[in-house]
Amino acid sequence: MDPERSSTSMPDTAGLRVAVLGPGGVGGLLAGLLARGGADVTCLAGRETASLLDEQGVAVRSALFGDFVAAVHAAERLTEPVDVCLVTVKATQLEAAVARLPADVLGDALLVPLLNGVEHMTLLRERYPRAAVIAGAIRVESTRVAPGEIRHDSPFVAVELAPPAELSPRGEGLAAVLRHLGLQVSVTHDEAAALWGKLAFLAPFALLSTHEAAPLGVVRDRRRAELAAVVAEVSAVARAEGVSIDDRGLIDVFDRLPPTMQSSMQRDAAAGRPTELEAIGGAVLRRAARHGIALPVTERLVGELRARQSADVRSAPR
Ligand SMILES: NC(=O)c1ccc[n+]([C@@H]2O[C@H](COP(=O)([O-])OP(=O)(O)OC[C@H]3O[C@@H](n4cnc5c(N)ncnc54)[C@H](OP(=O)(O)O)[C@@H]3O)[C@@H](O)[C@H]2O)c1
Repeated sequence: MDPERSSTSMPDTAGLRVAVLGPGGVGGLLAGLLARGGADVTCLAGRETASLLDEQGVAVRSALFGDFVAAVHAAERLTEPVDVCLVTVKATQLEAAVARLPADVLGDALLVPLLNGVEHMTLLRERYPRAAVIAGAIRVESTRVAPGEIRHDSPFVAVELAPPAELSPRGEGLAAVLRHLGLQVSVTHDEAAALWGKLAFLAPFALLSTHEAAPLGVVRDRRRAELAAVVAEVSAVARAEGVSIDDRGLIDVFDRLPPTMQSSMQRDAAAGRPTELEAIGGAVLRRAARHGIALPVTERLVGELRARQSADVRSAPR
């Protein structure tokens, strides 16, 4: 990596060159906010979405940020260097999507995945050895209602960035840009804590809400013992990864959240779309196996959800 580049912080939003791989609920919202803030944004997507975005821009409806349309460039493949690339596809789409991001064009840009899960970090670091890969986690509720049309529902967008020490100035620079746009951004140097902190919440919620096909309130009432068991199991794996999770505190968080809250895995399953089961539940099981930790409840839930998914695929019309 160019040493000068690694020691300088991010330029101002105006003139910042950003690529967004996967302009959906998360990516479309960030692309819109960055473009409105003056960044030069290129969305990378399939042909139809790319040509629509190129012509019409990204339309965002948000109680927090207002309703606006921001002009972006869009392409099927990155052809010019950028300062930052946000990776915002679903985990199930990542393998196919990275073909749009040639390593030689990306060079030593900041590469910031905001996907849920942990396993995408290895894939991205292997594929982009020169890039400055920084783990990120995002808390938001934002939906791609149609290509290029984004509805942002949560009264906040919270991003956690976890740059390794040598990338700290560039991570802080990106954090400053995002804060300036109105996002809540925290920076930690503990990548495992950022990723496992999110997974410790998400895995129990996503697995049980999808298994029960119901929102959080129903899960809390009907599946409380399993919720506590999965929290304890995932936090055991997190501990083996060097991350301490407050199990009791997490149950309190589940008790305080609105009963109507749904997980995106549950919504995807209900709509017959592929889910991030492997990136969330499968990843927890694979890490547990690496550490020799048994996760009986998580394993049963993931196994049953995998079986349901295979049955759905077999019965889908051809
Ligand atoms: N949405 C949220 O509120 C939220 C909150 C926290 C975390 N997350 C996480 O953020 C990640 C993204 O979720 P999301 O909800 O934003 O997903 P999404 O709305 O489904 O957006 C995915 C986007 O990726 C595009 N895409 C699909 N295949 C592609 C490919 N091969 N190349 C380029 N682009 C491709 C889709 O294009 P089309 O528009 O053409 O379909 C879509 O715009 C997930 O890991 C999710 O768990 C989401």
